[in-house]
Amino acid sequence: MSENLQVRTPEASFELPITDGTIRATDLKQVPTQRGPLATYDPGFMNTASCRSAITYINGDAGILEYRGYPVNQLAAGASHLEVAYLLLYGELPTPDQLASWEKQINTHRLVHENVRELIDAFRYDAHPMAKLMAGVASMQTFYPSSRRIDDPEAREMNIIRLLGKIPTMAAWAYRHSIGRHFVYPNDELGYVNNFLAMLFQSQQRVYRADPRVSRALEVLFILHADHEQNCSTNAVRSVASAGNDLFTSVGAGIGALFGPLHGGANEAVLGMLREIGTIDRVPDFIAGVKEGRARLMGFGHRVYKNYDPRAKIIKRSCDDVFEVTGVNPLLSIALELEKIALEDEYFVSRRLYPNVDFYSGLIYEALRFPPEMFTVLFAVPRTAGWCAQWLENMTDPDQKIMRPKQIYTGYRERTFVPQDQRG
Ligand code: ACO
Repeated sequence: MSENLQVRTPEASFELPITDGTIRATDLKQVPTQRGPLATYDPGFMNTASCRSAITYINGDAGILEYRGYPVNQLAAGASHLEVAYLLLYGELPTPDQLASWEKQINTHRLVHENVRELIDAFRYDAHPMAKLMAGVASMQTFYPSSRRIDDPEAREMNIIRLLGKIPTMAAWAYRHSIGRHFVYPNDELGYVNNFLAMLFQSQQRVYRADPRVSRALEVLFILHADHEQNCSTNAVRSVASAGNDLFTSVGAGIGALFGPLHGGANEAVLGMLREIGTIDRVPDFIAGVKEGRARLMGFGHRVYKNYDPRAKIIKRSCDDVFEVTGVNPLLSIALELEKIALEDEYFVSRRLYPNVDFYSGLIYEALRFPPEMFTVLFAVPRTAGWCAQWLENMTDPDQKIMRPKQIYTGYRERTFVPQDQRG
């Protein structure tokens, strides 16, 4: 049975078809108002679907997250990050042969042009690594002009492989630059995550071998961060792509969006908050300040999840594995106390604010001795898989057009210009 929405004005009534639980915003245009055809006003896209997508499913009320239909907890328990990247891009889990060939392709594209190395080197010693990563990724368009052939499926795939291969190298070099250490080149003998850890932490000529518990924990974090449907940075990727832009320019924009403290920058902000609180006995005061609007409980709340973020649950468990290797992060007890109080407090309960993915991930990153500025970089590396899949879907979706929202104009009209010497 077809569903319709009836819209009545004093003069007429209109039937708007409802498809997939939505109305086409352009159907509203047939409804006249005093200010012209009816439109919607939706700052922050609170209730607007910008695309059709078959990549990631989220049910925020039930705390469900699935990639291509597979629950994220099952993927985190049994898959590798590159396997998940393949799933996001191609829609199916790879066969063993497909996976082996996929890993080989990605891993042979880890080396970056020496000019990118110089680009990273040209930043000030204290530049934020996200700025270096953003610049490095955006610059790739100039090294791979084929990326501008956005209608060529082979060029699209090749450049996705290049980006997935090179993003850990650029991320690791952005970090090494900030600590003044030589850049470590990719090692063919190591897999995706272990090679990333080696490029980050290898010192002098010693061979770096990550503890398997640490590399598995990072792999799990990578899987949990691989995609999250139409969030702020993915929307930025799609928006920039909609103007006909290549993968590298579009993902560069996504990295910029992810940098924000309300998005991927929140894990860095969580650590700052925990440090500021300092001791468990100061937690109640901090919570009182949040309720009075003096602070935000970073790592809590989510636009979509109105239940415990399923990723936060898995990360909380990963903390135990990592702390077994590194020793317990003393800030953990403050985080646990904050969570305990917040989950019982009427302010947080009534607003349905639960820990999100960023609440515990920063504790793991810190235990692994990453400086806080690297936390968002550690989010951007795996999210690149999702950005690539979303970029590709956007490029091949016949419904998509250049993104160009409307506005409600609130300013002056038809004023007469006054020459400078007659003003004041
Ligand atoms: N601490 C205290 N109060 C909060 C918090 C928080 N972390 N989050 C939301 N609220 C309150 C708001 O003040 C608001 O209260 P009000 O109704 O009395 O005005 C209500 O809850 C609704 O919040 P909004 O800001 O309207 O929710 P929105 O969906 O716009 O924001 C966001 C979601 C940005 C994630 C928000 O919850 C937040 O700022 N959280 C902290 C930052 C954070 O952890 N971001 C990471 C998100 S996950 C990610 O991007 C990877």
